[in-house]
Amino acid sequence: MNQNYNDVKRYRNDIIEHLNKISLMWVDKPELKETIEYTLFNCGKLARSVIILLGLNDLNVNYLLGLDVACALEMIQSYTLIHDDLPEMDNATMRRGKTTNHLVYGHGQALLAGDTLLTDSFLIIARSSLDNRQKNKLIKLFAEKAGSHGVCYGQILDINNENNNFSTWNQIEKIIALKTCSLFELSFMSIGIIAQLEQSTQEILKRIGYLFGLAFQIKDDLNDTLNEMSIIGKNVSQDNNKCTYHKIYGIDAANMKINQILKELKEDCTKIFGLDNKIYDYLSSLIK
Ligand code: IPE
Ligand code: IPE
Ligand code: MG
Ligand code: MG
Ligand code: MG
Repeated sequence: MNQNYNDVKRYRNDIIEHLNKISLMWVDKPELKETIEYTLFNCGKLARSVIILLGLNDLNVNYLLGLDVACALEMIQSYTLIHDDLPEMDNATMRRGKTTNHLVYGHGQALLAGDTLLTDSFLIIARSSLDNRQKNKLIKLFAEKAGSHGVCYGQILDINNENNNFSTWNQIEKIIALKTCSLFELSFMSIGIIAQLEQSTQEILKRIGYLFGLAFQIKDDLNDTLNEMSIIGKNVSQDNNKCTYHKIYGIDAANMKINQILKELKEDCTKIFGLDNKIYDYLSSLIK
């Protein structure tokens, strides 16, 4: 476990160092750079990018091959959060332990910092040293998971969750599948592309991302109800008006669902990443 912790620490450092190099492209655009970096370098868990590096390492592939893609994904993650916090969406005042981006830099600049992070993430992949076939696949996958087939449409459904009186798990699962699972599917499927795994393996990687995303959002929604702002670094009771797994089935059932998903994940992770994989323990640590 201790070794695992050291690995994650090393991957996080590598990701931050690489993001620092990437941020040089904004050096002559100081107001944009400052707004972007306020969120990007006030790092969260870096879960989606650490997953890529850990997964590659479990497959005995040089994890440095995934650094550009990991950073591109982390740029998209920061963009989704900046936009998610805007008054027109969740109207949040606190993110990653600090005042939200739009309250510091204004709504226009926050919007455009988010737009830049999303758009420039494609530039990072296009400029990476992976071969053209891999880059093609990655760009298509990133577009699918971020756009109308992924996060953007999920966030629209999520806004409507407040007003549409969604009340069944089926309805909520569809929202989570798009708004949250998409980026975890992106993490795991990127591993498959970088490590050049077979198509049949991609399907299992997608399922791992999907299952983990579900459990991750169920846990996040529990935190929203049960935790404190000083601990999770963001507003709580944000989703009081939204339907969640624990609102339908109760808190105990939500914890049981997370544990049941973890069991399924353990099997799939062993199948793809081997018996001695480190990725499962990492996933588990994120939602325990
Ligand atoms: C927040 O994601 C958005 C959700 C899907 C709940 P994280 O909890 O991974 O946020 P950061 O990146 O660590 O801040
Ligand atoms: C986040 O859902 C999904 C995103 C695509 C950002 P939440 O709205 O629950 O995320 P937090 O709790 O604000 O991080
Ligand atoms: Mg939201
Ligand atoms: Mg939110
Ligand atoms: Mg939340």
